[in-house]
Amino acid sequence: MKEQIGVLISEEEVDARIAEMAAEIDAAYEGKTVHMIGILKGSVFFMCELSKKMKTPVTLDFMSVSSYGDGTRSSGIVKLNKDLDETVEGKDVIIVEDILDSGRTLSYLIKLLGERKPASLKVITLLDKPERRVIPVDLYMTGFVVPDRFVVGYGLDCAQKYRNLPYIGVIEQ
Ligand code: IMP
Ligand code: MG
Repeated sequence: MKEQIGVLISEEEVDARIAEMAAEIDAAYEGKTVHMIGILKGSVFFMCELSKKMKTPVTLDFMSVSSYGDGTRSSGIVKLNKDLDETVEGKDVIIVEDILDSGRTLSYLIKLLGERKPASLKVITLLDKPERRVIPVDLYMTGFVVPDRFVVGYGLDCAQKYRNLPYIGVIEQ
């Protein structure tokens, strides 16, 4: 069956909000280099757009994690599939995520990277679904707060599809 995708946040709204976020980071990190860590694969589209709009020097690295569960519910166990290529020690690190849901993935990553002695460590997420939070996560910046619905596009997938949609959509069946 072909799924219908409804627009939750338009391409124009997403792009405008990312430009605002980029300007805010530029102001806060003046004179520094931001070391962005993207969580594969969902954060890639957001990370590219955000870093392209920033004037602050940026270096990039990537991590891949998966959390086990029955498909719709995660068990809380997070597995590291791909670690960073470079050290974070002494760097001004920003973890870039697509969506904050239960908080399990990000709380695991904050603990892991925090132990590696970065100069600073902050978290930015494009989307936040606060209704589903199990573990509290301290966010530096959020693009949009979304309702408790399964969202796709702008990096977010449903069974690996729809990541390349230029807007945030919801599957309407
Ligand atoms: P958390 O550990 O529960 O916070 O999980 C966050 C991860 O779950 C995100 O990085 C996404 O990969 C995935 N996720 C959570 N909600 C959605 C959604 O609505 N659409 C697509 N992926 C989602
Ligand atoms: Mg993800």
